[in-house]
Amino acid sequence: MAESAEIILDGKSYSFPVTEGSEHEKAIDIAKLRDQTGYITIDSGYKNTGATKSAITFLDGEEGILRYRGYPIEQLAEKSSFLEVSYLLIYGKLPTTAELANFGDQITKHTLVHEDVRKIFDGFPSAAHPMAILSSLICSLTAFYPESVSPDLSKEEIDLNVIRLMAKISTIAAWTYKNNMGHPLNYPRNDLDYCSNFLYMMFSFPTEKYEINPKVVSALNKLLILHADHEQNCSTSTVRLVGSANASLYGSVSAGINALWGPLHGGANQEVLEMLQAIQKDGGNTQKWVDKAKDKNDSFRLMGFGHRVYKNFDPRAKIIKKAADEVLTALGIEDPLLKIAQELEQAALTDPYFVERKLYPNVDFYSGIIYRAIGIPTEMFTVMFALGRLPGWIAQWKEMRENKEPIGRPRQVYTGELERDYLSIEQR
Ligand code: MLT
Repeated sequence: MAESAEIILDGKSYSFPVTEGSEHEKAIDIAKLRDQTGYITIDSGYKNTGATKSAITFLDGEEGILRYRGYPIEQLAEKSSFLEVSYLLIYGKLPTTAELANFGDQITKHTLVHEDVRKIFDGFPSAAHPMAILSSLICSLTAFYPESVSPDLSKEEIDLNVIRLMAKISTIAAWTYKNNMGHPLNYPRNDLDYCSNFLYMMFSFPTEKYEINPKVVSALNKLLILHADHEQNCSTSTVRLVGSANASLYGSVSAGINALWGPLHGGANQEVLEMLQAIQKDGGNTQKWVDKAKDKNDSFRLMGFGHRVYKNFDPRAKIIKKAADEVLTALGIEDPLLKIAQELEQAALTDPYFVERKLYPNVDFYSGIIYRAIGIPTEMFTVMFALGRLPGWIAQWKEMRENKEPIGRPRQVYTGELERDYLSIEQR
C-alpha cells in the first residue's frame, strides 16, 4: 500500500500522499490540504518546504554529498570542464565529443553583444557595483531579443536563448570590470576557450600582449564547476519563481543575479575577503576575532562559516580549500590572508562553540582567496559566482518550463488589522 500521512485537525483525520525521490527522500504532498481542511502550512524561510521535484542536483546535507545529474562534485571538479558541466546540467547528460564541440562553437559564435549594450555602460556611475550592472544588462537582453518573452518558444528557440545567455554573460561580466576601472572594453576572442576568453577580456589591454596562464584557466574552470548548481537555493528559487510567471530566461536570470548579490547568499564571498583584510589590518590576531564572534554583545559575525543545508561539512569547501593551496603554490603566491583564513578555520574546527553550532567553513570561505590569487578584484567575486551559477539557473528554468509547473504563488497567515472603516483625514 502506498505510504500516506495522517493529519488530525479539529478531531478529524485526513490522509495525504507521501511522495518519494530517487534517493528515497520523502515528502508529504499537501497540495490538497487547504481544499480538504481549510488549513495551510507555514514555513518561514522554506526550511522544510520542497518547492518542486527536480532531477538536476542531489544534495545530502547530513552526509555532505553534492551531485550534478548523479555525478559526484568531486569527480566533476577533478575531471571535467565548466562547459561540459554546463551541458550536463542543462541537457541532463554528459556530452559526446561532437556535442561538446558543437555546444562550445555555438557559444563562441554568440559572444559579441549588440553595440548598443556598450552604450548602456555609459549611463552607470563609474563606481557602480558590478552586480548592479550585470543584473541590469542581463535583463536588457530581453529588449534586444524581444521574442524571448513568448510563453510558446520552441525547443530550438529556447536553446538559442540558452546559448546567447551562456555566451554573452562572460562578455558583459568582463566589461563591468573594465568599465569600473575606466579601461577600454575588450571584444571577445573566438579562438579561445570559454574560461581563457573571459580572462582575456578581463585582463588584457589593447596595448600589450596578454599571456593566458593555463594554471589560472584550470583554477577558474574548477571554481565555476563548484558553483554551477546547488538545487533550490535562494537565487535558483528566485529564477524558478520569476520564470513560473512565464518571464523570459533573461529576466528570470537577472532576478536570480539580484538574489545572489545579497550578502547572506553569493555576496558572502566578498564579505569573507573583506573580513580577512580587516583582521589583517587589525594586526592579524585571529583569536581576538574568534572571541568577538563568540561574544553575544558583539555584532561581529564570522563570514563564510556554516551553511543552511550542510550539517557537517560543505563538500565544495573541501575541494576549494585544496585548490586554494594548489593555486597559490602553482602561482608562487604567498598570501597572508590565506594564513589568517587557515587559523580561523582551525579555530572553528576545534572550538566547542563553533563545533556545537556546526559553524565550519563553507564554499565562500576559500573561493575569495583563489579569486584574489588569479587577480579578480573583491567586488567582482559575486559576479564570478553568477558566472558559475548560470548553467544551474538555466537548467532549473528549463526544467520548470518543460514540466509546465504552475505559477508560484505562496499563501500567508494574515496578522494585520481586522476590518475597520476609513476615517477622513480630519478624524484621525
Ligand atoms: C549556494 O551555493 O547557492 C549557497 O551555498 C547557498 C545555498 O545553497 O543555500
